Amino acid sequence: MTVIPTINETEALAQVYADRSPREILELALNQPGEIAISFSGAEDVVLIDMASRIGKPFRVFSLDTGRLHRETYQFIETVRKHYGIKIEICFPEPEAVQAMVNEKGLFSFYVDDHKECCGIRKVQPLRKKLAGLDGWITGQRKDQSPGTRTAIPVIQADPGMAGPGRELIKYNPLANWSSSDVWNYIRMMEIPYNPLHEKGFVSIGCEPCTKPILPNQHEREGRWWWEEDTKKECGLHAGNIQS
Ligand code: ADX
Ligand code: SF4
Repeated sequence: MTVIPTINETEALAQVYADRSPREILELALNQPGEIAISFSGAEDVVLIDMASRIGKPFRVFSLDTGRLHRETYQFIETVRKHYGIKIEICFPEPEAVQAMVNEKGLFSFYVDDHKECCGIRKVQPLRKKLAGLDGWITGQRKDQSPGTRTAIPVIQADPGMAGPGRELIKYNPLANWSSSDVWNYIRMMEIPYNPLHEKGFVSIGCEPCTKPILPNQHEREGRWWWEEDTKKECGLHAGNIQS
């Protein structure tokens, strides 16, 4: 039987691993009993896939295809699949829910209503469906990605909001303490492939209509959902980051 750590055990583990390296945290995650997968957005979180491939244990990767990603991101996901010789599990939204929304409100309702409904249908529901078959997930979230919502993310946390009734789910954030420069030093040093949008001024990359390049000295989160307040800039994948 798969024994998943309880919430208390997860908190204790988070303290022990608080200052450990991303590789050590990732290794711990990949050694966890049960099913676990890396959640890959097609951006600089490619470093997790690179580290996992060097650890040498089998690992799973999934990506949420919202239907609205940049052409470059689709191409990059394909590049990564081939480069590492891995399977990437692509998760699509429910077509009926997307159709109902766009038929009623058009293709750009997020500029008017805010992004919650569209992200809910295109990202959060497919994520929940995926996580229903997993005991843990590994993300590329970092504290420095969002002063409004991510400064306190632990390296390991229980994820009851995404777990579903009666289930335990652990979320690993191996890069939580790394800065953007740490990530980019790794990408350059290891000469690993990266999304070509980064060469065009994009830093944080999400869906095409909701992501823009940033100017020098702008924070990376300013390129995401720029029409909304900083404290709301979470699409719901990491809803636990928003304090009510
Ligand atoms: S978001 O919540 O604002 O969209 P962000 O782009 O900062 O998230 O990425 C943080 C982490 O969330 C990524 O490293 C990845 O683990 C996960 N993530 C974000 N978007 C996706 C996606 N489309 N598919 C899979 N994982 C994703
Ligand atoms: Fe929809 Fe924009 Fe959210 Fe993508 S980021 S799911 S396009 S609101």
